[in-house]
Amino acid sequence: MAVRARTVVLSLLVLLVVVVLGGITAVGWQIVLGPTARAVTDRRFEATPERLARGRYLTEASACFHCHSEHDLSAPEYPVAAGRRGAGWEMPIPELGKVIAPNITSDPVTGIGAWSDDEIARAIQEGISRDGSALFPLMPYGNFRNLDEEDLASIVVFLRTVPAVTQVRQRSELVFPLSVLVNVMPKPMAAHTSVARTTPEARGEYLVRTVAGCQDCHSPAHNGDPLDGMDLGGGFELSDPGRNMAPVHALNITSDPSGIAHYDAGLFIEVLQTGHLPGRMLSHIMPFEDFRHFTEDDLRDMFAYLKSVPPVKHRVSNTDPPSFCPLCEGTHGLGDKNVKIQ
Ligand code: HEC
Ligand code: HEC
Repeated sequence: MAVRARTVVLSLLVLLVVVVLGGITAVGWQIVLGPTARAVTDRRFEATPERLARGRYLTEASACFHCHSEHDLSAPEYPVAAGRRGAGWEMPIPELGKVIAPNITSDPVTGIGAWSDDEIARAIQEGISRDGSALFPLMPYGNFRNLDEEDLASIVVFLRTVPAVTQVRQRSELVFPLSVLVNVMPKPMAAHTSVARTTPEARGEYLVRTVAGCQDCHSPAHNGDPLDGMDLGGGFELSDPGRNMAPVHALNITSDPSGIAHYDAGLFIEVLQTGHLPGRMLSHIMPFEDFRHFTEDDLRDMFAYLKSVPPVKHRVSNTDPPSFCPLCEGTHGLGDKNVKIQ
């Protein structure tokens, strides 16, 4: 139990290292010159009750505090340590150096209370800290980049209300070459366009890809490049410290029979809220503790979207003995039952 949050963190981390290394092909002068960043503007996000409520919802469901808070490792539910919400966390991933999700409470000295709205917005969407340095993309700014302007404003408005906690802010110190590769990742954003989403599938796509980032674990990739034709088809290998670092694979969540064809909306909601599959409990690597904050309506839209993506034929199991899979070239349960069609 005590390693629950670590499992999630470690798994996200494995993914992001792959993403960062994938960036090697795009290495440029930013390595020495620092990241490309735009100048901050004086835009302000007016605080309204609607924005506050929406911002709280998005912040909780997209797991900001999961990374940005210490956890009480002694309690079975692995909660955020009392009074430490948003106060920062040195994530337990020493292989990558010191990775710190800093204090994002409203404290003006050690938190982000003195940052301007646009400085906060730029960090969330463009991966640039207040001093112009690049953020390690374990901070999922690549997904948050696609947040609607109104949702971004809501998150910033809500962050302003997170009770101040004094915890001296430190920045991550990554191992080489990650420490320089982070500089090639951030890309400044031009003016933002918000999109009207009128169907459950379109709303679900936004929640799945931008807010929750399901694809970060569920779409297999090699060196940061997603595998063709396998979007959301599962197979990504993570290590589960809660089970002695046993490998656990993200499963196929497309509507193919090898995926979640047997799900209905009710089962999907139950799995996302509780982690219970019929017959067993999912690994805590799957961050359902945060996703349970999503409303049932939003979970329904996410399910509608998953039903609409092209089905991927890819059998993946965490309960069968591992074998080589010619499709994702990983080694996972039922791997040898997959056939590569040339
Ligand atoms: C998977 C973990 C993770 C999640 C989820 C996450 N962050 Fe972060 N965040 C980080 C890490 C790690 C850093 C620091 C990266 C670095 O030091 O290079 C960071 C940096 C930041 C910064 C910049 C802080 C500074 O001092 O430069 C802000 C602001 C921030 N996050 C806000 C958010 C918000 C708001 C959310 C949710 C909408 C969020 N984060 C979700 C891990 C996370
Ligand atoms: C940090 C990685 C990670 C993220 C992010 C993630 N998942 Fe998962 N998910 C997993 C893993 C690993 C499993 C398999 C766990 C096991 O078998 O014990 C899983 C299992 C599942 C299952 C069960 C599938 C089955 O065959 O019954 C569903 C459904 C699911 N995830 C949906 C989602 C959705 C929807 C999102 C986004 C809202 C998401 N996941 C985000 C890692 C992740």
